[in-house]
Amino acid sequence: MKISQTYGLTVLKEAKLVNTSMDLLIPPELKKQLENKMARANIAHVVTIGDLQRAINNQNLNANIRNSKTAPYNMTWTSYHRLSDIYGYMNYLAVTYPSLVSLIDIGMSYEKRPLHVLRISNSSSPGTKPAIWIDGGIHAREWIAPAVASYFIQQLVEVPANAKLLTNVDWYIMPVMNPDGYEYSFVTDRLWRKTRSLTSSSNCRGVDPNRNFGYEWGGLGTSTDPCSEIYKGTKAFSEPETNATSNFILGKANHIKLYLTLHSYGQYALIPWGYNVSYPPDYNDMFALANKTVSKFVKYQFSVGNSADLLYAAAGGSDDWAKSVGIKYSYTFELADTGKYGFILPASQILPVSQDFFPALDVFATEVAICC
Ligand code: ARG
Ligand code: ZN
Repeated sequence: MKISQTYGLTVLKEAKLVNTSMDLLIPPELKKQLENKMARANIAHVVTIGDLQRAINNQNLNANIRNSKTAPYNMTWTSYHRLSDIYGYMNYLAVTYPSLVSLIDIGMSYEKRPLHVLRISNSSSPGTKPAIWIDGGIHAREWIAPAVASYFIQQLVEVPANAKLLTNVDWYIMPVMNPDGYEYSFVTDRLWRKTRSLTSSSNCRGVDPNRNFGYEWGGLGTSTDPCSEIYKGTKAFSEPETNATSNFILGKANHIKLYLTLHSYGQYALIPWGYNVSYPPDYNDMFALANKTVSKFVKYQFSVGNSADLLYAAAGGSDDWAKSVGIKYSYTFELADTGKYGFILPASQILPVSQDFFPALDVFATEVAICC
């Protein structure tokens, strides 16, 4: 029996089966007992976050500093923002730059929040150029992902020097794929991961959206238990969020040449397949581009590799599904950090993480313009 099951511990970062580490959340009252148990079993351990609540309290210190009262939006990259701020900014951009930006509503979440995608294109007939899709916030607690995705939006739209990134490519960016979970992680449970849909268990809500996509759905690394953090749902695309996203992408699958989904944490560039240690025929192309990309990073070093091999096997991921529908380049990037703060990455790191990553978009755009 796994220690995490015996003691009902929350797994923050799963391990591969053998010889790798994992991150667990330990209630203070179990600390001594677990230390003894691990010592007896010869399991090495370190305490990375001694007081999680304190880290949470310190994560978003500037949350109440607002843009000036007259500013048309309330968005920054020095704090983590609620959904309404992110959506307000997307809306502002669509209104302010109508020839560049369109706000596309692709559906509704379980709790009836709109699912917003921003298209950024300088073309008079969008849909003729190759396109890149980027999403964040599939997992609610991974706050750095929506922050980085919205930074990309800001840079592509509002910084004239970046206009060259629009020359050959259209961009579709969805900063928050799981808005219900995202809000829940602000209001109620900072470590919430899943959607918020009702399940067959009255005590447990939510499906893991990254186990709910329809390729090899229900395979390794998924659960049929609604109380599990990796609950796969009742069927592929049971969740309105994954269903709407996949339908939208499918409609554009001829143009979208690169699918990038932002998660945290670990600093990995993960390449399909993730459902099993196995490799698409053009794996080497994906590997080469990922390497070229992470070699641009200065501050945060990433490991590149096959998802199931480097991390663990998990079926029903959005990256596998995107690859399966013919999108040549499909990646999951696990953003900073490597575990010091984990999901509770301080807001002071939003800009460093975003700025370090941004040059990757040029690498992607250059390849996508010619690849296929
Ligand atoms: N941390 C991500 C998750 O567990 C990794 C997903 C990688 N992709 C995959 N298809 N397994 O959802
Ligand atoms: Zn994730």
